[in-house]
Amino acid sequence: MALRPQWLYQFARTGRIPDLTTPNLTPPGGGSAPTFFQAYGEWMGTPLPTWEDVAWLREQWGGPFMLKGVMRVDDAKRAVDAGVTAISVSNHGGNNLDGTPASIRALPAVAEAVGDQIEVVTDGGVRRGGDVVKALGLGARAVMIGRAYLWGLAANGQAGVENVLDILRGGIDSAVLGLGHRSVHDLTARDIVIPAGFPRALGAEESARVV
Ligand SMILES: Cc1cc2nc3c(=O)[nH]c(=O)nc-3n(C[C@H](O)[C@H](O)[C@H](O)COP(=O)(O)O)c2cc1C
Repeated sequence: MALRPQWLYQFARTGRIPDLTTPNLTPPGGGSAPTFFQAYGEWMGTPLPTWEDVAWLREQWGGPFMLKGVMRVDDAKRAVDAGVTAISVSNHGGNNLDGTPASIRALPAVAEAVGDQIEVVTDGGVRRGGDVVKALGLGARAVMIGRAYLWGLAANGQAGVENVLDILRGGIDSAVLGLGHRSVHDLTARDIVIPAGFPRALGAEESARVV
């Protein structure tokens, strides 16, 4: 565990934990950034975004725009209508709703529905190269990672993150080779053994009641 003498000194002097601020939320034109707890309170008190908010944000931004956290085919189609350039099929690492299906189970139906209109990526549970290969085979253009790189960061800083990326890269290479392909671009669903009932077409018209 890394020692932070200055934090320790501050804590010993004031008896209070440091006043964490959120510099990315500094008001436009200056002013002081809210503390973490102020920002958290504001977040909790803000109504959930609507599809109109998504379309407005995309318009304000004007550049490539990814909507993360899409698990349903109908939502993926709404995202296309809102003008996004990409979605991530994601259950936010499973931290928002206990028991929600894993992202990889929702991926095939979403990729099938909108993959030719916008970029579909996925995240959640990617721990090794083989997981990346499975996601690509099931229709993702790419994957994102959360905890894997954080564990590397906690263990060994930048070198730890680089190590995680090396492990993923090596695993992707050996899985692609093992499947007899030259490149990740050759991966298809035929490369993946998919247990019956594994894919969940959440929000697709033909199976709207099947979850
Ligand atoms: C420390 C931490 C904080 C996160 N905070 C958010 C968040 O504020 N909003 C969000 O949509 N997802 C959040 N996530 C989920 C990630 O964006 C991502 O979906 C998830 O970590 C991917 O799964 P994996 O960790 O298994 O790779 C967070 C994840 C971690 C580990």
